[in-house]
Amino acid sequence: MAIASDTRETLVLGIETSCDETAAAVVARSPDGHGRILANIVRAQWEQHRRYGGVVPEIAARAHVECLDEIVGEAMREAGIGFAELAAVAVTAGPGLIGGLLVGLTTAKALAMVHRLALVAVNHLEAHALTVGLTQGLRPPYLLLLVSGGHTQLLLVRDVGRYRRLGTTIDDALGEAFDKTAKLLGLSQPGGPAVERSGMKGHPERFALPRPMSGRAEPHFSFAGLKTAVRQQAQALAPLGKEDVADLCAAFELAAAESVVDRVRVAIEIANGELDPLAHRHLVVSGGVAANRRLRASLAEVAARAGYALHVPPPALCTDNAAMVAWAGAERLVRGWTDGLDVPARARWPLDPDAAPALGFGRLGAKA
Ligand code: KG4
Ligand code: ZN
Repeated sequence: MAIASDTRETLVLGIETSCDETAAAVVARSPDGHGRILANIVRAQWEQHRRYGGVVPEIAARAHVECLDEIVGEAMREAGIGFAELAAVAVTAGPGLIGGLLVGLTTAKALAMVHRLALVAVNHLEAHALTVGLTQGLRPPYLLLLVSGGHTQLLLVRDVGRYRRLGTTIDDALGEAFDKTAKLLGLSQPGGPAVERSGMKGHPERFALPRPMSGRAEPHFSFAGLKTAVRQQAQALAPLGKEDVADLCAAFELAAAESVVDRVRVAIEIANGELDPLAHRHLVVSGGVAANRRLRASLAEVAARAGYALHVPPPALCTDNAAMVAWAGAERLVRGWTDGLDVPARARWPLDPDAAPALGFGRLGAKA
């Protein structure tokens, strides 16, 4: 087994502060491209934001300032290494909340300068996209469905640094739709797990909810209308009993899963036209919503029918963490892709800048 002092391994410290998790991790990459995690510390801030019903950017940035140094120290201690053994510090430079990004980026720049380390500015979406290389050793090309509280995208990952965005949401991210649905039904936050728990006891066929975007030629997503449909049903039934809530949750989950599956089917057709006919077919699902059992079961079905192998990183690495940032940093570093100390934080940073805007982009406030 390799050990931390194996000099052939590239050791990278990762820092993540783009939303409401403060995280630091140390990852090792061996010359043959295998990775392992030496430390992975994540501190969620949900308590600080609870009373406001969502993430408050100012509070998030302050909370990152207060605990990032401590969390970096904890990660280094757990990894059992000193800064001199690191090859680089990798940090999420976007997309995300600008205040939080600046906290992480400034800290990373200071560490890089003081300890004479390479600096790698990582795109948060690229970190999610490459996680499967760390957890399952899977190399591109593959089709990626990224479903989190902030993002809902379908990407063709051709190689490290080469992405084609096939689809994105024109309004809410899927996790956001779960959270809003939970809120309007009086369930706890984060909403996804609460909706899933309640929906297990429910009867989805009781309500006819829309399957947004189904049948559209481009694999984009929309979830705002679905959430509104749940609200209208809830208002018509008010006051809601436990069974009503369970049935609404089950119906929402089923509608969301069927909409996603329809979009993935379209993306698979596009991917089939672009991938080498002899290449193995892989569908990777990442982001917090990948934990949803109904969605996973539906995706397993659609993947199997299309001859795609389904890969889902373990939940702790699907949700926001710094191990994925360190890993993406290591992948860039070994290709010689490092950044200067003047690299900026970017609130918006699309992985595929050439992608055409989705229908409704801007007008409906779609995510990058
Ligand atoms: O990836 P993540 O931790 O953070 C973001 O980058 O947004 O994703 C969090 C999102 C939340 O919206 C949460 O409600 C959702 O993932 N989520 C779920 C489940 N577990 C977490 N959604 C549906 N079903 C779940 N079991
Ligand atoms: Zn994320």
